[in-house]
Amino acid sequence: MITMVPELLILLGTTAIVQADLLPDKKFVLLPPANFTIKVTGLAQVLLRWEPNPDQEQRGVTLEYQVKINAPQEDDYETRSTASKCVTILHKGFSASVRTILWSNRSLLASSWVSAALEAPAGLPGTSIVNLTCSTNTAAVNYTHSRPYQVSLHCTWLVGQNAPEDTQYFLYYRYGSWTEECQEYSKDSLKRNTACWFPRTSISGKGREQLAVRVNGSSRLAAIQPFDRLFALHAIDRVNPPMDVTAEIEGTHLSVQWEKPVSAFPIHCFDYEVKIYNTRTGYFQTEKRTINTFISIIDDISKYSIQVRAAVSPACRVKGLWSEWSQPIYVGKDEQKPLTEWFLIVLMATICLILLTLSLVCRTGHLWTKLFPPVPEPKSSIKDLFVTINYEKAGSSETEIEVTSYVEEPGFDILKDSVV
Ligand SMILES: *[C@@H]1O[C@H](CO)[C@@H](O)[C@H](O)[C@H]1NC(C)=O
Ligand SMILES: *[C@@H]1O[C@H](CO)[C@@H](O)[C@H](O)[C@H]1NC(C)=O
Ligand SMILES: *[C@@H]1O[C@H](CO)[C@@H](O)[C@H](O)[C@H]1NC(C)=O
Ligand SMILES: *[C@@H]1O[C@H](CO)[C@@H](O)[C@H](O)[C@H]1NC(C)=O
Ligand SMILES: *[C@@H]1O[C@H](CO)[C@@H](O)[C@H](O)[C@H]1NC(C)=O
Repeated sequence: MITMVPELLILLGTTAIVQADLLPDKKFVLLPPANFTIKVTGLAQVLLRWEPNPDQEQRGVTLEYQVKINAPQEDDYETRSTASKCVTILHKGFSASVRTILWSNRSLLASSWVSAALEAPAGLPGTSIVNLTCSTNTAAVNYTHSRPYQVSLHCTWLVGQNAPEDTQYFLYYRYGSWTEECQEYSKDSLKRNTACWFPRTSISGKGREQLAVRVNGSSRLAAIQPFDRLFALHAIDRVNPPMDVTAEIEGTHLSVQWEKPVSAFPIHCFDYEVKIYNTRTGYFQTEKRTINTFISIIDDISKYSIQVRAAVSPACRVKGLWSEWSQPIYVGKDEQKPLTEWFLIVLMATICLILLTLSLVCRTGHLWTKLFPPVPEPKSSIKDLFVTINYEKAGSSETEIEVTSYVEEPGFDILKDSVV
C-alpha cells in the first residue's frame, strides 16, 4: 500500500498535465469519416473505404483512422490511409467501424464511430459442409517450366446434416489474386462432392500468405449455406520426406546421408530427424540434425533399419509438420548363423514327430481295448467294473499329459533365447 501511493500521485499528475495541454485545443473537434463502405473484392476478402470528413478542420495536423472489425472476428488497428483490405471468412457476415483519431502528446483525440456491415449469405441452417480439411504438397516439374516446383492441393469435407439429397457442393480457392474452381471432385454414394484435388495451383511453395477456401452449394429444395476457411500454409503443408537416404558401416562408425526433400525451400531450410532401429535388440534411437549427415558409433554387430524425416526449420518459415519417414533402408548384418537355425528347426520337427507317433500309438492301444473288451465273467462284481473304469480314466489322463507336453515344446524357448 505504501509503495502504491507515490505511483498513484504520479499518475494523477500526468493526467492533470495532459488535461491542461488539451485545454487550448478544446475547440478542435474531430469529425467521423464520410461514405464508409465495405465491398467484397474476392473470395474471403473485403475492401473497407471511407473519405475524410469534408467539414473537418485540418490545422496542419495529420489525421489518422482507427478501424475496428466487429465480426466475424474482432480486430483493431490504426491507419493513415482511407482504405483497408481485409482477409476474413464471410459466411457469417462481416461488420466494421471506423473513426477519425489524432494523437496529441500521447493522448488520443477521437471522433464518433461510423459503421457498416455485410449480411451473412442466406441459406438453410445445417446445409453447409462441415469438417473441411486441406493439405498441400510440393512436386518437382520439368525444367522446361518457368517454375521448377508446383504445389498441389487436396481438400475433404463432410456433407451438412440438413443438406437435401440433391445438394451439390463446389470448392474454390484463392491464393493472392488468383481464384480457381475445383475440376477434380470425389463423390459420396449420393454423387455429392466430398473431396477435391488440384494437381497444380497458384500457391507458392515458399508462400506466407493465407490460403482462402470456400465451399458453397446448390439444391432445388433449399438454399445451401456457403462455408469459408482460411489456412496458414505452414500448418497444412505436407513436406516431402528426404531423398536418397544412404547408410554405411565402417568399423564401428555408422554414417547416414540424405538429400533435402523435393521443396521450393533451399537446403539450409530443413530440420531432420534420423531414426535408427537395431533389429536385433529392438532398440530405437532418434536424433535431430540440421545438416544432411549423421555419424554414430556402434558397438553392436547387428542389422539396422534407418529412416529420416524432414520439417521446414523455423529460420525459414513458421514451424509446421514433420514429413513422413523415408522408406527404411537396411545396413549391417545379422549375427545369427543360419546353420544353427536349421538345426533347431530339424530338432523341433523330430520332437514333434516323436510326440505325434507316441500319441497315435497310445490311441491305437485304446482302440484295441474298445474293440476287444475283456469279456466280463458272468458273476462280475461291481468292484471289477469300478476297476475297469478307473483304468480307462487313467489311460485318458495319460493322453492329456502327452498333449500338454506337445504344446509346451521346449524347442520354442531355445529358439527365442537364441534370437534375443
Ligand atoms: C505537447 O507537449 C509539449 C511539451 O510537453 C508542448 O510544448 C506542446 O505544446 C504540446 N502540444 C500539444 C498539441 O498539446
Ligand atoms: C459521398 O458519396 C456521395 C454519393 O456517392 C458523394 O456525392 C459525396 O461526394 C461523397 N462524399 C465524399 C466526402 O467523398
Ligand atoms: C467433425 O468435426 C467435429 C468437431 O470438430 C468432430 O467432433 C467430429 O468428430 C468430426 N467428424 C468426423 C467424421 O471427423
Ligand atoms: C517432362 O516433359 C515431357 C514432355 O512434356 C514428358 O514426356 C515427361 O513425362 C515429363 N517428365 C516429368 C518428370 O514430368
Ligand atoms: C460459389 O462461390 C463462387 C466464388 O465466390 C461463386 O463464383 C459462385 O457463383 C458460388 N456458387 C453458388 C452456387 O453460390
